[in-house]
Formats: sequence, C-alpha cells, structure tokens
Amino acid sequence: MSIVVTGATGHLGRHVVEQLLEKVPADQVTAVVRSPEKVADFAERGVKIAVADYNAPETFDGLFAAGDKVLLISGSEVGNDRVGQHQVVIDAAKAADVALLAYTSAPGSLTAALADDHRGTEKALLASGLPYALLRNGWYHENYTENLAPVLEYNAVTNAAGAGRVSSASRADYAAAAVAVLTGEGHENKTYELGGDVAWSFDEYAAELSRYTGKEIANNVVPTEALVGILTGAGLPEPLAVILAGVDASIEKGELVVDSGDLSRLAGRPTTPLADAIAAAVKG
Ligand SMILES: NC(=O)c1ccc[n+]([C@@H]2O[C@H](COP(=O)([O-])OP(=O)(O)OC[C@H]3O[C@@H](n4cnc5c(N)ncnc54)[C@H](OP(=O)(O)O)[C@@H]3O)[C@@H](O)[C@H]2O)c1
Repeated sequence: MSIVVTGATGHLGRHVVEQLLEKVPADQVTAVVRSPEKVADFAERGVKIAVADYNAPETFDGLFAAGDKVLLISGSEVGNDRVGQHQVVIDAAKAADVALLAYTSAPGSLTAALADDHRGTEKALLASGLPYALLRNGWYHENYTENLAPVLEYNAVTNAAGAGRVSSASRADYAAAAVAVLTGEGHENKTYELGGDVAWSFDEYAAELSRYTGKEIANNVVPTEALVGILTGAGLPEPLAVILAGVDASIEKGELVVDSGDLSRLAGRPTTPLADAIAAAVKG
C-alpha cells in the first residue's frame, strides 16, 4: 500500500511529495514520472519511483496496488486529449482497486474552455465507481508571479479581466490540501472547492507590485481579442492564447473567486498571501 503521486516532477507534484515526506515514511510514497533523472533527489531519500506516461497505457500496467491512495495530477499538455490521458490512469486505478483516486481539477464555477478537460475527467472518474476526491484547485499565485519579466519591462500588468477578482493561492497551499486528503480519513467521494482566503483585483495586484518594486506599475485592461493578439505576438500559439484570454473573461465574471474556505480548512492554516508570492518573486 502506497501513496502514489503522478506528475511528481512538476511544480505541484514536487510540493506534494516534499510535504508527504514530512508526514509518512519515504518508502510509503511512490512518485510517478516520465523522467526519473528529474527526481533523483527523491529516490535518494527513499521515495519509490515508477516510470509511466499518460500517453502509453501499458506503462501503467501493474503500477498501482489494492489499497493505494493515488493523486492524479492533471497533465500539462493542453489540447492533447487530456481526458483520454487521465482515463488511462483511472482505468489502471480501477483495475488495481485503489482505495482513493484524488484528482486536481478546476473550480466548479469556471466555464472557460480550459475547464472542459477537467469536467470530462471528473465525469470519467465518477463513472469508474472508484472512491474519488475532487480537488478543484483555483488559480496559482505563481501563474502571475513567475511571469514578472514582461510586467517589469513594460511597467504594466496586462489583462482582459476588467474589475474581476481572483482568489489565488500558492502551489504549496494546494499541495497541503492534497496531502491532507491523501494522509487523512473520510475524504472518499468528496468535492473540495479550493481557493485562497483573499480575492484580489488586478488594480490591487498592480498596486502591490508597485509597492514591492518601487516602480509605477499600471493595470492595463484590454479587450479579450487584444489580449489574444498580445499573447500571440509574444510567441504563444493562437489556440493557447485564446484559451488563456478566455480565462480572463471568466475572471471578469467572477468565476475564479472561490470562497468555500475548503483550502485553509484542509491545509489547517491560512493560505499564503499574494504579497508573499510577489515578495519572493521580486527578491528572486
Ligand atoms: N490551478 C492553476 O493555476 C494551474 C496552472 C497551470 C497548470 N495547472 C494544472 O495543474 C497541473 C499541475 O501544475 P504544475 O504547476 O505542477 O504543472 P507542471 O509543472 O507543468 O507539471 C506537470 C506535470 O505533469 C506531468 N505530465 C505532463 N504530461 C504527462 C504525460 N503525458 N504523462 C505523465 N506525466 C505527464 C509532467 O511531467 P514532465 O516533467 O515529464 O513533463 C509534470 O510532472 C498542470 O499539469 C495543469 O494541468 C493548474
């Protein structure tokens, strides 16, 4: 019996494994990865490493065991049949009769196209009959704070979100919620709407950035189509630019405000303030 984490080489997955190691012995944790060299540090600490790819169903044969608790971290290849990829993991988990399959989804309120794969995966997971936990993760602080270079170059936060607010939290916060579910009891067939304790607007974000950098950073709100143009101009493929601009349209409608309190409740502490993520990013 193991706690098994897919996507363990990713930003969120690494946080989850790190936080699991604070709670359970390393030999009870399995990291599922495509590239084992990326997790040599975990292997050295006694974490079991399994090599598998969502695109290759056979690589999941025999990977799970009865009683395992599995965290399926959603794939990052947007536009590449992620529902089909996740179905591979669900099928393998079902065949092994795992005790829990937790899935990192998106807020139930999010109607943007980006949420389609998550809704499809949730449907597949429920149809499997497996004990599930839906971790409907809201936005990461890091979506913004890891991309400060253009903001600092143009002294502007450019978005198409109007006066919309976002209750983001750090990846470490979402990882803490996942770890609570994987190591705790009574999470079977539960849906958690996860978001930061404080929702912020882009005006407030620009003001906070100005305070930390000592520069005058403006909030530059543009129409959705203009944002698509800016993103493609910066080198993003158009389909991805359209998806990201669609998220801003959802933010304007208030769809990324999650006020359930589930995240701080599961983590057992307040969520990380956006200002902390800005400070960490600005300090480098
Ligand atoms: N809530 C949000 O704000 C937000 C923002 C961005 C993304 N997300 C979603 O949350 C997930 C986790 O976020 P993150 O920041 O940790 O993303 P990330 O750093 O890009 O990590 C993605 C992980 O998925 C793995 N993966 C991708 N395709 C795979 C495949 N075909 N087979 C097996 N593993 C595969 C990657 O493995 P490799 O290291 O081998 O590439 C990596 O470990 C993302 O994948 C995405 O679905 C959420």
